[in-house]
Amino acid sequence: MNISVNVEQNTFHLYNNEISYIMTVLPNGQMGQLYFGRRVHDREDYSYLLEMRSRPMSSCVFDTDKSFSMEHIRQEYAVFGTTDYRIPAMEILQKNGSRISEFLFHDYRIENGKPKLPGLPATYTEDENEAQTLIVGLEDPLTQIRLELFYTIFEKGGVIARSARFINNGVEDVHLTTAMSLCMDLPDSDYDWIQFSGAWARERYPKARHLEQGIQSVGSMRGHSSHNHNPFVILKRPTADEFQGEAIGFSLIYSGNFLAQAEVDAYDTTRVLMGIHPAGFDWKLSAGTSFQTPEAVMVYTDQGLNCLSQTFHRLYQKRLARGYWRDRERPILINNWEATYFDFNEEKLLQIAGKAKDCGVELFVLDDGWFGKRNSEHAGLGDWFANPDKLPEGITGLAEKIEKMGMMFGLWFEPEMVNEDSDLYREHPDWILRTPERKASHGRFQYVLDFSRKEVVDRIYEMMAKLLSKAKISYVKWDMNRSITECYSTALPADRQGEVYHRYILGVYDLYERLTNRFPKVLFESCASGGGRFDPGLLYYAPQGWTSDDTDAVERLKIQYGTSYCYPISCMGSHVSVTPNHQLNRCTPLATRANVAYFGTFGYELDLNRLTVEEQEEVKEQIRFMKKYRRLIQFGTFYRLQSPFENNVAGWMVVSKDKKEAIAGRYKILNGANQPFERMYLQGLDADIQYRINEKDIRYGDELMNCGLITTDASAGESAPGEKMSYDFESKLYMIKAEE
Ligand code: GLA
Repeated sequence: MNISVNVEQNTFHLYNNEISYIMTVLPNGQMGQLYFGRRVHDREDYSYLLEMRSRPMSSCVFDTDKSFSMEHIRQEYAVFGTTDYRIPAMEILQKNGSRISEFLFHDYRIENGKPKLPGLPATYTEDENEAQTLIVGLEDPLTQIRLELFYTIFEKGGVIARSARFINNGVEDVHLTTAMSLCMDLPDSDYDWIQFSGAWARERYPKARHLEQGIQSVGSMRGHSSHNHNPFVILKRPTADEFQGEAIGFSLIYSGNFLAQAEVDAYDTTRVLMGIHPAGFDWKLSAGTSFQTPEAVMVYTDQGLNCLSQTFHRLYQKRLARGYWRDRERPILINNWEATYFDFNEEKLLQIAGKAKDCGVELFVLDDGWFGKRNSEHAGLGDWFANPDKLPEGITGLAEKIEKMGMMFGLWFEPEMVNEDSDLYREHPDWILRTPERKASHGRFQYVLDFSRKEVVDRIYEMMAKLLSKAKISYVKWDMNRSITECYSTALPADRQGEVYHRYILGVYDLYERLTNRFPKVLFESCASGGGRFDPGLLYYAPQGWTSDDTDAVERLKIQYGTSYCYPISCMGSHVSVTPNHQLNRCTPLATRANVAYFGTFGYELDLNRLTVEEQEEVKEQIRFMKKYRRLIQFGTFYRLQSPFENNVAGWMVVSKDKKEAIAGRYKILNGANQPFERMYLQGLDADIQYRINEKDIRYGDELMNCGLITTDASAGESAPGEKMSYDFESKLYMIKAEE
C-alpha cells in the first residue's frame, strides 16, 4: 500500500496490490479525478487521462481557451453553479445570497492509519500499517472556507474510504446546504445500477437496471436509513455476475437521511454522489467552526459480486464493528416477542426461559412491554423502569433468576421514543420533535424525542445506565419503531432548523457511544421495526442487528440473501419462529426454519413449551449444531450460490479460512413433479483437497466447484424405494469436510 505524490504534476496515486486511485490538481486549481480501478503501474505523468476538448454549448473557465469546461472534466468534489451543470457534491449559501464557491488546491498531508471522525461512526485501523490516509486541503479564497478531502486506502482489499470536512476560517457565517461524503466521476456509463430496496418485512431486495442518461437515485427522508432503501448501491458491468467481472460498491456509514445517486451526462460519464440527503439539510457553518460529513466506503473488484461482498464483510466485521463481541461467537438467544407480545408476567417468562435453558439456549431476551404502563402500543415509552404488576421483583429480580438458571439476560429498549401516556412526556411535553403550532403526527401512537438536545440524551442515558448497572443485563435490543415527522427542535434558532435531522442522529450515536463505553461487555443489537435502520453506522456500535420483523423462513431467504451483498453473516439477527408464521401464515418445516436462521446470529422467537416433545428434541439438536458450527458460519467466507430472486431454489455456503471445512445450504421453495436433475456449483474450496460430504461421498474440491454437487431429490421422478417424497420448503445442509 502506498500513496505516491508527484509534486511537479500535482498528482496523487493511492494504490495497493489490488486497486489504484489517481487524482490531480486541474489547471484551474480544483481537483480532478483520473482513475479508480484495478491496480496500474505508478508513473510520473498521467496527464493524458485528463481528456479535454472544445464542445458546443460549453461554458469555459479560461478567457483564451474553449476546451476547459468543468462540465467535461471528471472531478473529486464538484462545486455548484460554475461551468459544471451536473449535480454538485456541495453547495454553500453565503451572506450575500451567492451559492458559488471555488475550492482550490492548497496543501496535502499523509497520515499513517486513519484519523477518527469526531462524533461519527467510521472504519478504523488497529495498527498504523493497515492503512494510509491522504488529506487534500482546498481553500476558497473569497469565503476563506477550507475543505479537507479524506481518502484512506487499506493495505488489503479494494477499499477506499472517503469523507469531507469543511472548516470556516472566514469571518462570516455561511450555510452548507449540500455536503456529500463522496463524489466519484467515472469515465463511462456502461453499468447496471443495483439498489437494495423494499419495505417493512421485505427489506433489502436487490433491484437492478442499466444506467441511462439522467439521474438514478435512492435515498431516505424518514430520519433513519429506512426499510425502503439501504445506503448501499452497486455499479456493475452488465457482463459481471456473482463469480466474475467488474463492480464497485458504494456504502454510506450513516443512519439518517441519505442520498445515493448516479448521474449519467450527455457524454456518458457517470457521477456517483453519496451522503446526507441535501433535501431539508441546512447546516449553519459559523465562522470558526467546522462540519464533518459521514464516511462513504467504495469497494472495487474485478472478480464478481461475491468478492465485492466478501471485501465489505471483512471490513465491516473487523474494522467497523468494535468491542468485546466483535470477534466472538454470538450467543443463541430466545426472544419472547412473538411468544407473548405484551401479554406476560414473570411466571410466564420464567417458563419460557426454563424450557429454553433445557434446550441449550444461552441468552433470554425480554422484549417490549416490561416497563411503565406498557400493556399496549399506547403507553409507557420513555418510562424505563419495570412494571411491578408484571415483574414484582423488577428487572433486577428477573435478571437474577435468569442468571441463576445459567443463562444471560437481555432487555429491549426503544430509547428514542415516548408515548403521550408516560411520565416522561407528562414531565417534558416539549421534548419531542414537533413544529410549533402544528399538529404532531404519531407513528404507532408514539413521538420521537428530540435527540438533538443534550439534556434529552442525558436523561435517557441516566435511566438506561441505572438499569444496566443495577441488573445483570448482558444484551440490549435497541429498537426504533417510527420515522420522523415535523422535524423541528425548540432548542435551536430558526436558522439552525435544517440541522435537526443530522443532530438527531449525532445524538443517537452519542448515546450509543456512552452506553457501549460504560458497559463494554453488553452485546447491543440494533433494530428499527426489523430492518429499518440496518446500516453500517449502527454496526459501529451494535455488532448485530435485527434483520427483519419477517421471520418466515422462505421470506428470510430473500431478506438475508439481499442483506448479504453488503453485511456480514455475524451481524444478521435471525430466529426460528412458530408456524403458522405470524407475518405470512405459512407453515414451513422446523428444520428449514433453522437451516435458514443458522446463517445469522441464530435464536428462537417462540415458546418452546408449546412444541411437541419430538420438536423439542429437534430444537436441542439444532442448538448443539449451531454451537459446534457458529464460528465457521459467522466468521467464515460467505458465498451466494443460487438466488431466491431468480429461482425456485436458493443456495449459499460458508468456507473456513483454511478451506478445510464448509457448509452449504440449499433451499427449495415449491416442490414440483418430475423435475430436472439439479446441481449446485460450490465455491471457494481447495481444488486439490478431497472432501467428504455429509459423512458419505468423497469428492475433490475441483469436482464440487466444476462438476457441481448433485442436489437432485425425489421430485426429479418417482421416488426410489426407501427414498422420502420431497416436499414444499424443503432444505438441506451439506457438511463438507477435508479428509485427513
Ligand atoms: C419492533 C421490533 C420487534 C419487536 C417489536 C416490539 O417491531 O422489530 O422485534 O421488538 O418492535 O414492539
